[in-house]
Amino acid sequence: MERTMNKVIDEARQGEVLVKESSIPAGKKFYLESYGCAMNFSDSEIIASIMIGMGFQTTSTTDDADVIFLNTCAIRDNAEQRIWARLKDFRQKKRKNPSLIVGVLGCMAERLKIELLEKEKLVDIVVGPDAYRDLPNLVSAAGSGQKAVNTLLSREETYAEISPVRLGSNGITAFISITRGCDNMCAFCVVPFTRGRERSRDPESIVNEARELFEQGYREVTLLGQNVDSYLWWGGGPKKDLPEDKAHAALSHKLPEEEQKQFTTFADLLDKVALVNKKLRIRFSTSNPRDMTDAVLYVMAQHENIAKYIHLPVQSGSTNVLEKMNRGYTRQQYMDRIESIRQILPGCALSTDIISGFCSETEEEHQETLSIMEWAGYDYAYMFKYSERPGTLAARKYADDVPEEVKSRRLTEIIDMQKKLSLISNKRDIGITVEVLVESNSKRSEDHLSGRSSEAKVVVFPRKNFKPGDYVRVKITDCTGGTLMGEALD
Ligand code: SAH
Ligand code: F3S
Repeated sequence: MERTMNKVIDEARQGEVLVKESSIPAGKKFYLESYGCAMNFSDSEIIASIMIGMGFQTTSTTDDADVIFLNTCAIRDNAEQRIWARLKDFRQKKRKNPSLIVGVLGCMAERLKIELLEKEKLVDIVVGPDAYRDLPNLVSAAGSGQKAVNTLLSREETYAEISPVRLGSNGITAFISITRGCDNMCAFCVVPFTRGRERSRDPESIVNEARELFEQGYREVTLLGQNVDSYLWWGGGPKKDLPEDKAHAALSHKLPEEEQKQFTTFADLLDKVALVNKKLRIRFSTSNPRDMTDAVLYVMAQHENIAKYIHLPVQSGSTNVLEKMNRGYTRQQYMDRIESIRQILPGCALSTDIISGFCSETEEEHQETLSIMEWAGYDYAYMFKYSERPGTLAARKYADDVPEEVKSRRLTEIIDMQKKLSLISNKRDIGITVEVLVESNSKRSEDHLSGRSSEAKVVVFPRKNFKPGDYVRVKITDCTGGTLMGEALD
């Protein structure tokens, strides 16, 4: 059966969605696979919203898909290698079904553009992270046999008014994007090139999204940005009239009160979202050691429903390496940030990102990374081997000269250190009571539930009469390096 009058979001600018009639036949399905960071998974929910708006249905297998989309990551070379391998998986499918459309979306699309379309003819559509509103045109062009590409980056796009379709959701936790892009230019990082200039989303649309999620039964939101601390919204007039130094002063809450009121900083935004409902737990990621203010910490202290957990990527424990990385802080300044956290938020959990083997990293500098890890006592860490990305500051300026086996050995030492620290952190929790937001049944047993504490630790306990979405006080009785086990008290 053909449905010829589907409504399609054809073209839109900020705040203005134009709707056009189109002819997507009924029953057409798209399959979407997401890679990389939380921001990418959040973008996939925008992509799904636009595709469904065109009349497509979702499918969870590639077998009956008319369109296959990979929402890709470019952060390290191995992320891109996985995508090339995945694209080759589809070659056979395309031979059998020549009308099958394969699209590469996201950061790898932005980075490689035409190369993706040309190499081995595996791809029909290439779309960068700021061009998803153009999907209706691109899909229809690909449907008529053309190659379709849009990798334009925007200074304004935040998809603010597009309602995300929550994919593979547990119905309890959700992401909300608050900024897009990044202006930081860390020397190793490809994100500023693939996701463009930083821009903040209207606070009202963020608060509304949080409220709607709560009303639908969600109990936790994670506010997402590459650097949440540089979130800034100005309600005082057109953006072009905002002088740079004003913005700078506003970020650190240094303007006279009347002027400061025109701005929403990340601390202000957190406060607004926390007030949506006491039963909505708020998380955020990622904090930046250079930009995080004490104002954020005080807002966290004021609201019980803001999770006591901060992801504060250190990258390296050596001031020399940090300088080459263009991170904008020294070892001591990073440690001072943690001291403030400890003082204002005692018991707050901490996690980090670490890169091993950055350009010319010496053995002593590597030891400084191990020692700062031990000093900070991270509860959790994401750890990576340095992977040179073409076009970045580091690729242009420094040699990627730490041998592969040295990078690997250092990474192993970093991972071993973190295993030790995670176990210490979990053992310290035995005997205490934590508040768990139940997310799902435990993977291990039907009789157990699994959720997270405010400190973001995974907690498993016998279900009694509890269910996903409940807040439960759980006394911790045992642990592994990755999980706390306990008994519900209520
Ligand atoms: N600010 C971002 C960082 C995104 S990248 C955020 O919101 O998390 C996530 C992490 O990947 C970085 O913190 C860094 O530790 C790591 N990373 C980035 N570029 C890398 C590279 N070229 N090689 C290895 N790891 C990298
Ligand atoms: Fe990348 Fe640094 Fe921004 S790690 S995302 S350039 S804060």
